[in-house]
Formats: sequence, structure tokens, C-alpha cells
Amino acid sequence: MLCTIIGKLQPALKRAQLLSSLQTNPPWRLMPIRASSAQSAVVKLLDSCLVLDYEGSRMHLNYVWLRDHCRSESSYNSQTNQRNLDTGRIDLNIRPHDTKVEDGYLLLNWPDGHVSKYGLQWLADNSYEGQKQSPVQPRILWNSDIYKNANVPSAKWDKFMSCDDELKKFLQNYVLYGIAFVDDVPATVEATEAVTQRVSLIRETTYGKMWCFTSDFSRGDTAYSQLALDRHTDTSYFQEPCGIQVFHCLKHEGTGGKTLLVDGFYAAEKLRQRSPENFELLTRVPIKHEYIENSDKHQNHMRGIGPLLEVYPWNKELYIIRYNNYDRSVINTVPHDVVQRWYVAHRELTTELRQPENELWVKLTPGKVLFIDNWRVMHGRESFTGVRQLCGCYLTRDDVLSAARGFGLQA
Ligand SMILES: [Fe+2]
Repeated sequence: MLCTIIGKLQPALKRAQLLSSLQTNPPWRLMPIRASSAQSAVVKLLDSCLVLDYEGSRMHLNYVWLRDHCRSESSYNSQTNQRNLDTGRIDLNIRPHDTKVEDGYLLLNWPDGHVSKYGLQWLADNSYEGQKQSPVQPRILWNSDIYKNANVPSAKWDKFMSCDDELKKFLQNYVLYGIAFVDDVPATVEATEAVTQRVSLIRETTYGKMWCFTSDFSRGDTAYSQLALDRHTDTSYFQEPCGIQVFHCLKHEGTGGKTLLVDGFYAAEKLRQRSPENFELLTRVPIKHEYIENSDKHQNHMRGIGPLLEVYPWNKELYIIRYNNYDRSVINTVPHDVVQRWYVAHRELTTELRQPENELWVKLTPGKVLFIDNWRVMHGRESFTGVRQLCGCYLTRDDVLSAARGFGLQA
């Protein structure tokens, strides 16, 4: 079931992996060192690295890495969280003379007499093995039923603007689901701007800071029409697509125009389960997206290059989907046989994205502001009649996630 928090490692699994590893690896060459506290640690110095067993996990720590990550005052400024040490001056063949574990810390004596001291939990959290087994950003993946059954509450304008706890809840929902709503916002561009600035900084683009559009074809983009729009991510033609999209429908006198939302990561994870080779191909083949606009008022030629799906190499966690069939440009960097396989993989992902049960349809009304993670959740709309005025903006992704981390959320 995908409606779980992806990437959470079961402690039992960790213990099983350690047991299996202990059975296949040779015994310690040095005497095991045990911490005096209840939390035991076993340290072994190999030629190539230090091996630390702690709390059921085995970690392999490179010696240069250990010296580079020394947290002593001369090596690291804990006030600014910046490195003082010149990494370029570390002997690449460095090894500690001796080591001991004391009161939850690992101590290393280096050949020049310097002593480094590391918290065991800090090492466990920051080792490759630790990072490999934990998600950067825990998420709840959803289809329409999962999202509706979760009954995720919307924030309310008054409280949202004045109460940090309301903002924290909003950010938690946003981080987990990739969408979040604020209700009862005054139906003006100014109030929409204010509500977005409560969350992050606005990312100014060729469309301006706050944009406000009707179906007047004022720009060379299908968005400025009354036509239906299939699911897509925005600004795939930027080298770094915009992180967050904000929509606020200020007025609609007519019919239709419902907004479509699809969790791209839910569909992509389905693809990964069913056809891992097709998923992997979509993470490897770089594709171009372009936006070319040539009018009296606007000249633009944007180009973004990157695969449809990107995963972190150490834990295979998906972190961005670029999917915009309108703006996908000429495929001219891939040999013909790979192109065929890419189209097969693209078709399988497209089929999953188009499953009706994955479609969440929302009617945006004046007062309801929608925030979308544009690196994850796709949007579209049905065609409409009448005058429909929509305003919104893009937000910088780094600042939204920074705000979430400021509240202690994992993001
Ligand atoms: Fe769009």
C-alpha cells in the first residue's frame, strides 16, 4: 500500500540486516570497545575505514571524512554551523592512532595530537548507512480516496495570518501531501500576496511576481484560454522548475473550470513497483522542455533539461517529477533504440497518471487559496465558460522548506 510514509525503516529490519552482516563479515581485528552507558558501541579500525556498531546499525566511516567532520572548536564553528578546518590540508592517508568510546562519544587521537570527539547518535544519524535508510522528506502518497479519507483540514485566513501553530499545521500538511489550502482569504490579489508571504518568498518570473489572468490569450500559453488542460507540472522549461504554485480563483461567472490534482509521486511509485526498469529509465534519460514566446510585448526562450523523474542516489527517494507534454521539446539527445524504450516507459507512467482514481477534482472558489508542490503534484483543469479570473504566484522552494524546518518538521 502506498498510503504509507515512504522510506521509514523498520527497526526489526535493521536488526536483521546487522545480524546478516555480522554473519558474513570477519571478526573484529581489534578488541571491541564497549561504551560505559546502556547504549553499547563496538569500534573496529580497518585499513580503509572505521567500523562502528551502534544501536543495531553498522556504520563504515572513512578516516578523512572523520577528520573533516571533527566538531572541535578549531575545526568547526558551532555558532555559525560552519567548518573552520581547511579540508584541502587533510592528509588523504590519515588514520587515528587510537580510539575509545566514552559516555556516548567516540574519541579519536590523530597523529598530530589532535583529539576529535563525536556523539555516537550524531554519527548514526549522519553516516551513509543512516541516511540511506531514512527519507529526506517523509510523505504520504495519495490517490483521490486516500486524500479525501484523510480529511486534511484547511487553514483559516484569520488564524493562519496571526498564529504560528496554524502555520505549522499547514506546513506539515503541505510537506506530507504536497497540497494545502487556506480558506476565507479575501478575494483580492493583495490578500493572496499576503497569504503567500506568510509562507515563503515569491519567485518572480517572466509572468511577473503576482500574476492574474483571464481567458484573454494575453500570453502565448494555453493557460490563458478557456480550454481544458491535462495534468502537468509548471515551468518544466526552467532549469530549476518553480517549487510551489499558488492559485486563487477571484471570480468565475460561468460553468466548468474545476481544478485537477494528481499526486505524481503516487503514480511514479506504482510504476517503480510494477516496472522498475521503466522507472529507472525515466530517471536516466534527460529530456528538454522549452517555452518560446514571440509577441510584441514578450520575447522569451526558456529551456530546462532533466529527466522526467529524479531520485537521490543514496536512498533512491523520488524528489522531482517534470511532466508537461505541452512544453516537452524535441527529443534529440537519445539514440533511437533508447527512444523507443523511453516512449514505452513514458506511456506506462502516463497511463498511471490518468487513472481516474488518481484524480482529485477541486472547485476553486473565491476565498480558497491552493498551494501545490510543483515538484510533485500535477495540476490541470476542465474547460470552462464565462469569465474566470485566477491569480497566484510561484514561491521559492528553499524558503518554504526552510520555514517548515524552522518549526521542527522534517522537510
Ligand atoms: Fe499550469
